[in-house]
Formats: sequence, C-alpha cells, structure tokens
Amino acid sequence: MKTKIEDLHKIYSNGRSGPVEALRGVNLEIGSSEFVSIVGPSGCGKSTLLMIVAGLVEATSGRVIFLNERQERRPSAGIVFQELALFPWRTVAGNVSYGLEELGLPKKERKERIRKLLQMAGLEGFEDSYPHQLSGGMKQRVAIARAMATEPRLLLMDEPLSSLDAITRQQMQMELSRIYESGSMSFLYVTHDISEAVFLADKLVVMSKRPGRVLGTFSVELPRPRTQEVRKLKSFLELVAGVTDLLEKEWEPPPLESP
Ligand SMILES: Nc1ncnc2c1ncn2[C@@H]1O[C@H](COP(=O)(O)OP(=O)(O)O)[C@@H](O)[C@H]1O
Ligand SMILES: [Mg+2]
Repeated sequence: MKTKIEDLHKIYSNGRSGPVEALRGVNLEIGSSEFVSIVGPSGCGKSTLLMIVAGLVEATSGRVIFLNERQERRPSAGIVFQELALFPWRTVAGNVSYGLEELGLPKKERKERIRKLLQMAGLEGFEDSYPHQLSGGMKQRVAIARAMATEPRLLLMDEPLSSLDAITRQQMQMELSRIYESGSMSFLYVTHDISEAVFLADKLVVMSKRPGRVLGTFSVELPRPRTQEVRKLKSFLELVAGVTDLLEKEWEPPPLESP
C-alpha cells in the first residue's frame, strides 16, 4: 500500500492566543514497504501530521490517500504514541489482543496471532505480566506488538523510543529495523533524534519550524540489515551531518518562561 499526503494544511483555530498554523502545504509519499523517518524542530507539526494520517485529526485542507493495490480488508494504519497508553488493567497478551477483539476475531485465531506477535517482539513468557511489571523497553515492545496485531499496512510511530535510556534505545532501533525488514509494512516514523531517523529510514524527511513544511528529503541507501556497524559507516555519518546542517538553520532559542 502506498500512502500519498497531498498539500496538507492544518490550522488549529482553538489556540490559546489565536489560531495556530501547524502545517503548511505538506506533500509526502510513503511507498509500499518503505520506512520513512521525519525529523523536525519541536512544535513543527510532526504529531499533527501523524494524527491526520491516522484519521484522528481533521486536516484544514489537502488530503491523505491510501493506494491499496490489493484492496485488502485490513486497517490502513496502526499507531504507536510516545506515551504508550497500554491498558494497565490488561496483561501483555490482553493488551495485544485488544484490536483483535475489536475486529471480532474468534478466540482461537486471536490466541495464535498473539502468540506469534509476542514471539516476534521477544516477549514470550511474559503473556500474563501486567505493564507495571515490565521495563520501559518491554512496554515499548508490547505497544509495537499491539499496533501490529491488526496487521495494518502502515505503522505510524510518534517518538516511540524517547523515554528510553541510550543503550535500550539503540537496541530497540535494531529491533524495529528487524521487524521492518522481516515484514511488508510501511512505516512513518517521527523522532527528534537525527541519528535514529537515519539509522531506521529508507527515506528521511526534514521539516521546517512551524508552520511545518518539508524542507528536504534524503534517500538513505545504507545496507540492510541495519546493525551497529552501520552507525560507523562514513555514509551514515555524512547523512547525519547533512541533516543536522539543514536543521540547525531552523533552530531558534526556546521562548523564555513568563514569570
Ligand atoms: N489540539 C490542539 N489545539 C491547538 N493547538 C495545537 C493542538 N495540537 C497541537 N497544537 C499546536 O500545533 C503546533 C504543532 O504541534 P505538534 O503537532 O504537537 O508538533 P510536534 O509534534 O512537531 O512537536 C504547536 O504549536 C502546538 O501547540
Ligand atoms: Mg510531537
């Protein structure tokens, strides 16, 4: 499935100090089985863009089209937010099961699919644990397994690793790459971490400060599977430097807190 974002504008009319123009004329294409990373300054409309693609927020103008060649009857998009929002009263298996129950999948099929997902996420043996019993990295994996459960064609991820420590974060980046490389899903992945964006992506989109526009697109032709070795490649470091240069021009000091 290909996703086309066409001339998207978003103005929030309910801002505290008047309307806020969050996105201005965003055009973007996510190919079939393509991993697209988005980086951009804080407040530039990245989350807004993801929510519009997820159908959770309405665009002011422009549109998002899903070109589903095979006309499959599965959900277009699944989403993983920065705040994981796992159900604390449900076990690991219960959390992953949620979307499948919504779909009305019979219990037997549900069980089988949950088993496979937990295996994929490295969570075997934790089926009956509750979120509060898990580490941050494990909770993250539950959230990813839950988003993948309904087999969406496109996974939307909004800074899903930002609460993890540096090492866990790098390991989760490799996990994500592995999941991506072993499947046929497309990803639209938002992060403010430039090296993470490069590490994961086939295509990297840099957004301007608000109102968010596409400043530049980089094609990331690093070898797969992506391993720790990739981070040491000259081409990796050059890409990180190139994206950093572009973003630095957009940087401005954060506003002072009013007294
Ligand atoms: N529901 C909302 N109502 C009003 N303004 C909003 C709302 N959501 C986001 N904004 C504003 O839109 C801009 C973009 O926000 P957001 O999409 O969260 O940016 P990012 O994810 O890049 O940090 C910000 O100025 C933010 O304050
Ligand atoms: Mg955000």
